[in-house]
Amino acid sequence: EERTEPKRDLEGKKVLVTAGPTQETIDPVRFFTNHSSGKMGYAVAEAAAKRGADVTLVSGPSQLTTPFGVKRIDVTSAQDMLDQVLIVYGEQDIVIKAAAVADYRPVQTFDSKVKKQDGNLSIEMERTTDILLTLGQRKQHQFLVGFAAETNDAVAYGKGKLERKHLDAICVNTVGKTGAGFQSDTNEVIYLNREGKEQHLPSDTKKQIAHRILDEIVEDMEADRK
Ligand code: CTP
Ligand code: CA
Repeated sequence: EERTEPKRDLEGKKVLVTAGPTQETIDPVRFFTNHSSGKMGYAVAEAAAKRGADVTLVSGPSQLTTPFGVKRIDVTSAQDMLDQVLIVYGEQDIVIKAAAVADYRPVQTFDSKVKKQDGNLSIEMERTTDILLTLGQRKQHQFLVGFAAETNDAVAYGKGKLERKHLDAICVNTVGKTGAGFQSDTNEVIYLNREGKEQHLPSDTKKQIAHRILDEIVEDMEADRK
């Protein structure tokens, strides 16, 4: 919980947040997904709304409640998420991509339930479009922020993604550490920006981490304007 009244430093800003997992269909009863709970992205959307932003949350399947004042658009697959994000991208000031987007989807989806047969089953997978890379390539005025969960070398991989996807900043965290992960209510991240800032945000609730991330973004955007 916040100890003080939230600042209204995002008044007049349009903020797009993506959150949650995606689901990639195999057949009417089966899909590929991941363990993302959506909690980090929902916390960022909630924090931004409290600070006065006009927030759109593009969410993969999640049980979480829509934060007060946030416009939520529900999506299923990586392709759905890409389509919805591109519709609103042009008008955003800040874009924060906390979603755990599938990297692969089945090449073929079946209209009726696939029946089991003797022997092994192989499902051929193809790459999904990298949403964040697409946004980076089409960036105009937006401040673009990625997320990356890594098991090792988080800062090095994070810097690589920051460069390759033309981001303004990326929040990296190491998974496997106690209390920091996909389902957890707490997180510990390092905020990296283009100027080489490496700001360690110590373990805290995802709601508090969300405010700390927004603090860094606001600071960087103010520095950019000078
Ligand atoms: N991302 C995306 N679209 C994808 C895959 C990832 O927009 N198809 C975004 C995620 O939302 C996240 C960032 O890219 O903000 C980093 O995701 P991550 O999975 O860590 O990186 P990848 O580039 O997919 O690389 P890898 O999974 O191989 O580490
Ligand atoms: Ca990935």
